This record gives sequence, structure tokens and C-alpha cells, in this order.
Amino acid sequence: MALWHINGGNRLEGACTVQGSKNAVLPMLAASVIAGADTELMNVPVLSDVDVSLQILRNLGCQAVQSGNDVYINSKNLSDNHIPCEMMKSMRSSVLFMGALLARCGEVHMCAPGGCMLGERPIDIHLDVMRKLGADVRCDDSEIVCRAEKLRGTRIELPFRSVGATENAMLAACGAEGTTEIYGAAMEPEIVDLQEYLRKLGAYMSGAGTDRIVISGFSPDSHVGHRVIPDRIVASTILCAAASCGGDIELIGVAPQHFSQIQLFLNTAGCDIISGKRNVRLRSNGKLHHTGRVITAPYPGFPTDVQPLLMAALLKAEGDTFFTENIFERRFAHVAEFRRFGADIEICGKTARVKGVKTLKGTNAFAADLRGGAALLIAGLESEGKSVVHDKDYICRGYEIFDRKLRALGADIVMEI
Ligand code: EPZ
Repeated sequence: MALWHINGGNRLEGACTVQGSKNAVLPMLAASVIAGADTELMNVPVLSDVDVSLQILRNLGCQAVQSGNDVYINSKNLSDNHIPCEMMKSMRSSVLFMGALLARCGEVHMCAPGGCMLGERPIDIHLDVMRKLGADVRCDDSEIVCRAEKLRGTRIELPFRSVGATENAMLAACGAEGTTEIYGAAMEPEIVDLQEYLRKLGAYMSGAGTDRIVISGFSPDSHVGHRVIPDRIVASTILCAAASCGGDIELIGVAPQHFSQIQLFLNTAGCDIISGKRNVRLRSNGKLHHTGRVITAPYPGFPTDVQPLLMAALLKAEGDTFFTENIFERRFAHVAEFRRFGADIEICGKTARVKGVKTLKGTNAFAADLRGGAALLIAGLESEGKSVVHDKDYICRGYEIFDRKLRALGADIVMEI
């Protein structure tokens, strides 16, 4: 359990580097088993979810160590295809070992994955993908077993642009004979980065970033190095914090095109934003106005992960902003917590109406998931007086040394474990 102590009201100023992307590196860590190669991943954030992936790799017989922001993996001596339930339950992306292990060993044993509680999070699309590629998939209450004598390339049509199912299809297809075409693929930057990494491992793959990805073979390489893309959700979090607190900040070493949606919304809300090739500068006087409708959708639409963060930024904005959540069925847990600060929010079905209030007051608030938790930090920073955010270790799943980063920008925030 972590307690985040915040004394709100400070402007944020200065330059800030942004960590590597959690959601890009997690599928890469699973992918590392496919080729039996020696791999070096750079710009890997130090996070509990990364640590769980490394534990899974070691449990499978791989060498896997993190030293600062570098990760070294050697999967030549992979000796197992079972993933213990407690490891599966500690994060959602453990399910990506399904496609990767099936590609390498033709067999995988696991149970259903855990992850943030954002409503029902089934894995039916993942399982259908494995079946399509020729695997025999058996599930009971305690175990999922996938087996394939031989995976066969095929045409896969995803019923929804699921990020994880697209990644799992890309991973499993690396072990298939013949050509696999994935239609209706998710187009997130993390998918493009995974394709880059898989190509280095030996995959013949193209199309990531569009809705059709083609995988036509795999010839393993023995030494691979890859630098993970910067984290667009962390970048968006810092922008939202500076927008609501007021300030003048510059994000350095980012890929601004990956989070252009949030820049547009914050600009509409009244912030000055200048984005260069690898940096974004935001200036805000802290007095924001509503942005109309924010509707979450698969990339390049407005990211569901940023919905709680932008909502936090607009709690004091003049006028009403409407947030419609289309990706997850329960991603408004932060709303009840925002109300503790004095926010005026009504929920009707999939839409939350935020009526900007004049002031917010520091309080005790309780994180229920990763991005919702980060959004509470923003609420604390823009409120008057002291707040404590009680966090069952959700925030450190996605944010590296985040209190230090915010303090360097002038925030009064300390995390106590
Ligand atoms: C990824 O989760 C991200 N996680 C999430 O980020 C992100 O919120 C999400 O994509 C959407 O952008 C990682 O990359 C590790 P989905 P994922 O499959 O892959 C339904 C964060 O805070 N669905 O695109 O699990 C599902 O229930 C996290 O960093 C099925 O119905 O997301 C959901 O409603 C949280 N059946 C929707 O699709 C399936 O088999 C989108 O899920 C798979 C998904």
C-alpha cells in the first residue's frame, strides 16, 4: 500500500524526460521467448508489471535481468510452458505469453489473467485467434491449455480492435507455417513498436499501424537490441497535471504524434502547446474552459487510458465537459473519488458530465485502478490544501519514480510506502 501525500496549489515548471512505454515493453518481454535469442531492451521503465514479466520469464527457464532501464533476456534454454496462477493473476498482459509460448513450444498452460478492474475483461478474442491458427484450446475453471502440432497461417478477422488480441495474434503467427493476415487490427503505436521488435527477432511482418497486419514467416536471429518508445500515457498525465495546476513545462524525448489528441483537447481548453519533433512545451495559466465532448475510441481515437486524466484536468474548467467511455464498461471509478475533492460530476450510462467548479479542496481519496489513481494525483495537485491518495500499488504499475518527477517540476508530493 502506498500513500501519496500532496500539498496542492503549486505551479509546475521545468523540463521533464518521459519513461519508456509500459504497454509497448510488456508484449516485447513475452515475445522474447519466441526466437531463443539474446535480447537487450533499452528504455525499459522500472515498474512492478515489468518485474512480474521478468519473473515469468525466469520461471520458464530464461535468463532475465533488469539493470536500470536496460533489460537482458536469453531464452535459449526455455524449459517450461506453464505459467503459475499467481503470476497470471497479477497483470492482464500475462495473457500475451499464450501466443508467444504457442509459437515457440506448440503448447502453453496458464489460467485467466488478472489486471485492473475496469469491468468485464474477457479473453474470448485471444482464444478464438489461437483456434483460428490451428490450436486446440481447452478451458476449465482452473486452467487454459492450448496445443498445436503445427500452427497454420490463416486469415483472422478481429471483431473488435483489441490491443491485446492483436498482439497475441502477431506473436502466435510467428510460429505458423504460411501467411497470416490480421484484419481489423488495433493500430496503436505500441503495436507498431512490437512489429519493429518482432522483425528484429526474425519475423517477416508488415502493416502494423494500419488495420491489416501480414506475417509470412520467421527466421530467428540470435542477437537483438531494441529501444522502447516513450510512454504516451505518462506524457499525457504530466501535460494534464500542468494544464490544471498552471505552469510552463517541456516534455523531452517524446513522440508528440503519439499523443496528439490530448494536445488538441488541452489546446481547446486554453493551454498554449508547441510540439517539436521530440519535445512538447505546454503553458497554462490554470484557468481552463470546457472542451465539449470527449469520446474514447481505439487509436487514433481518444485513448481510454487518458479519459480519467483529462477529466481530472477539467474539474475546475469553466462550463460542462462530457466524457463518453466506449472501451471499458466500468472506467468511472475515479468519479466518486473526484467528488470527495468537491467536483460536480453526473454519470448517465456511458457518459459523465463534468460541471466545472470554482475550487477543489484537498481530501483523502482511494485509487481503484492505475490511470484512475494517477488522475487522483492530478486532482490533489490542483486542489487547495492537503490530500492523501491511498493506493494499493496501482500507480507504481505504470509510473516510474513519479513523485520524484513531479517534485522536480515544483509539485509538493511525496510517496510513502
Ligand atoms: C490494452 O489493454 C492496454 N494494456 C490498456 O492499458 C488499455 O486501456 C487498452 O489496451 C485499451 O487501449 C496493455 O497494453 C498492457 P483491449 P487490453 O483488448 O489489451 C474487450 C493501462 O492503464 N475485449 O483493447 O486488455 C475488453 O473487455 C491499461 O495501461 C473482449 O471483449 O485492451 C475491453 O472492453 C489498462 N475480449 C475492450 O475489448 C477479448 O478477448 C478493449 O480491450 C479482448 C478484449
